[in-house]
Amino acid sequence: KIVPVIMAGGKGTRLWPLSRASAPKQFIQFIGDRTLFQNTLERVSDAELYEAPIVLTNEEFRFLVAEQARELGLTLAAVLLEPVARNTAAAVAAAATLVTELFGKDATMHVLGSDYEIDANATYYDCVRIARDTALQGKLVTFGIAPTEPATGYGYIESGKALPTGAHVVKRFVEKPVLEKAKEMIASGGYYWNSGMFMFSAAQLLSEIGEYAPEVEKAASKAVSKSKRDLDFTRLDAESFAKSPDISIDYALMEKTANAAVVPSPFTWSDLGSWDSVWKVGKQDDNGNVAAGSTTLVNTKNSLVMTHGIHLAVQGLEDVAVIASEDAVYVGHLKDSQEVGKLVKLLAGHK
Ligand code: GDD
Ligand code: MG
Repeated sequence: KIVPVIMAGGKGTRLWPLSRASAPKQFIQFIGDRTLFQNTLERVSDAELYEAPIVLTNEEFRFLVAEQARELGLTLAAVLLEPVARNTAAAVAAAATLVTELFGKDATMHVLGSDYEIDANATYYDCVRIARDTALQGKLVTFGIAPTEPATGYGYIESGKALPTGAHVVKRFVEKPVLEKAKEMIASGGYYWNSGMFMFSAAQLLSEIGEYAPEVEKAASKAVSKSKRDLDFTRLDAESFAKSPDISIDYALMEKTANAAVVPSPFTWSDLGSWDSVWKVGKQDDNGNVAAGSTTLVNTKNSLVMTHGIHLAVQGLEDVAVIASEDAVYVGHLKDSQEVGKLVKLLAGHK
């Protein structure tokens, strides 16, 4: 069976003020009645295909994780707590060390982010099985989404020759290209977006991280061997883990490995990283507005208006995001959505 490993330690600053330092986007209900983290848990809950999941998160989110799993009645195999955030390479390397201990080194890991929505239909599970079969051949497997625009917030995967499993060899992986590069790749064709999910054996991951990012591997395995366990929580040793470089798995490994594969993935996938992506995914009315919570819109077009508290009335605006939490309001152009994280940096003390 596959061991699901859910990464849920991101900060989600571009979705301020609904996503907060104390409860980032993966843990809040911002569309629908489940959180993104809960949707991710449900996607790996098929006991025929999957073991109980391992969740990777920051020390301060441990109660959110435990509570949201309990709400669904799901048991977790372990919650791996990071004393300091060292990004996804270190988190995944630590998980692979723990998976080796709990399930053996040949165990197949399905690593999932918790910040996108997926239509988990039969097509999706077909792709999961192809990815598993390909990981069993020793590959580091990605899921490739057909790109629709030259977005700069994703990894780009150039697909090569087909493998017997139905996956393809990866010729090149480019994490977060500049706009010019992204445009070139879209124009040339043959590229996918990286979905943010991976499938590989624990042994393969550790051996390649050890090769391409040895300091990450060393810090992570030491942090696990010196970890403290209580109930479901595995607390990584702070001093060892802090020594890992702060780097994502995409830069540390996926751009460098010669051993990656991609499963062409035709299921519906939407990243929910910024307000413009929430507007795109949301249900637009005849004026192109997406509204949630208690709102009144007059003469307003192509805008996102969401509130978790006070009533919002918007008049005569276009292409804007107006977002209210219980104690803060954000107003900005949808085109500036990628910049909200910078604004949040100026808000120290009000996060
Ligand atoms: N446990 C843990 N610890 N989780 C983390 C950490 C960390 O330090 N940092 C981020 N995460 C979690 C986030 O909560 C999210 O679910 C996932 O890891 C990915 O992190 P992001 O910070 O959201 O990455 P990204 O969106 O910039 O880029 C990744 O996802 C894209 C698709 O959404 C890359 O894999 C891209 O290549 C990919 O296209
Ligand atoms: Mg993301």
